[in-house]
Amino acid sequence: MSQKNPSSLPSFISDALAYSLDMTRQNLTSLDNFPELAKDGKWLCSDDGFWTGGHWTGLLWLAYAHTGDSTIEHAARKWTRRLTPRQHDTTTHDLGFLFELSFLLGHKLTGDSSFKASAIQAARTLALRFNPKGKFFQAWGPLNGTPSERGRAIIDTMMNLDLLFWTTQETGEKKFAEMAITQAHTVLQRHVRSDWSTSHVTDFDPDTGEFIQQETAQGLSATSCWSRGQAWAVYGFAKCYRETGNATFLDAAHHLAEYCLHRLPPDRVPYWDYDSPFIPDDVRDSSAASILASASLLLATLDTANADCWHTEAMAMLESLWNSYGSRGTNEPCILLHGTRSKPEDSMDHGLIYGDYYFVEALTRLTKPELRL
Ligand code: GLY
Repeated sequence: MSQKNPSSLPSFISDALAYSLDMTRQNLTSLDNFPELAKDGKWLCSDDGFWTGGHWTGLLWLAYAHTGDSTIEHAARKWTRRLTPRQHDTTTHDLGFLFELSFLLGHKLTGDSSFKASAIQAARTLALRFNPKGKFFQAWGPLNGTPSERGRAIIDTMMNLDLLFWTTQETGEKKFAEMAITQAHTVLQRHVRSDWSTSHVTDFDPDTGEFIQQETAQGLSATSCWSRGQAWAVYGFAKCYRETGNATFLDAAHHLAEYCLHRLPPDRVPYWDYDSPFIPDDVRDSSAASILASASLLLATLDTANADCWHTEAMAMLESLWNSYGSRGTNEPCILLHGTRSKPEDSMDHGLIYGDYYFVEALTRLTKPELRL
């Protein structure tokens, strides 16, 4: 099997979806800026969208897909356009996160081709970060930054590759997909370890391309497995397989996901780092679970021999998130509680807009498989 019939889904899915749409409508009435992190009853916001503006526009576009409400469509268009200046942002690799869930999702749902130009420009800007010697995308900092900025790659970049594949399909220019495929092979070689855990960061000499070391920024250590990074890897490799048909990428997504399944706690929501020595007395990252749930549902459509396993695991994560991590009954404006942005920076146990987005995305994969998210 590759897809379940939406009418046979357990009732918590429609309850969770109704609650999520309600929260999105409420947030729409109160937000002036892009939400990122929810704590003490309010969102911490940015006016330019930080790396998470696409997750807010993504929630709006999914709300439109579920309701057909023209007021929500209007709002999704307005918030999407607010990200337009970021198409020229040369200081970050996160242009995939920003443009895929705003301009590309808007284009997919409305057919409006005026969304395309900014997404193509964002891909051209992202392509400037590709280091051909080291075969990686520079993650953070300006293009002319310090050697350590110019030589730093992170696992999260796997999520920024779909914009490049789409741009090649749209423009016919092969270089974007070639860079994406090269980056994915570099991640396999440099971030992924023999046990299928991943490092958050890898450092290279930016001028010779020589690999220096595995490191971390948001995980516990250079040798640990940061749970959100592992989820980004599963998701990114599944999408690379969908775009290329290269079985190496499907094999990677399968093994990276299997690593999680072996290490998830009984309630299927990971601690912030799989290797924390304080487990079970440490904080969770509900966003890692929602990303992994959505990625597992994608994998169920691709790894058809194991589709039932991926579907079952995703349902267990979603049910646990809904029953034990949902915000209902609190005054928090997010959908899910107990995310961890970065424990090393003392930022933990709060709501995260991307945790909310991938939760709703997973619910949408189940209820609207025809969207092929
Ligand atoms: N991409 C940044 C993060 O996952 O926190």
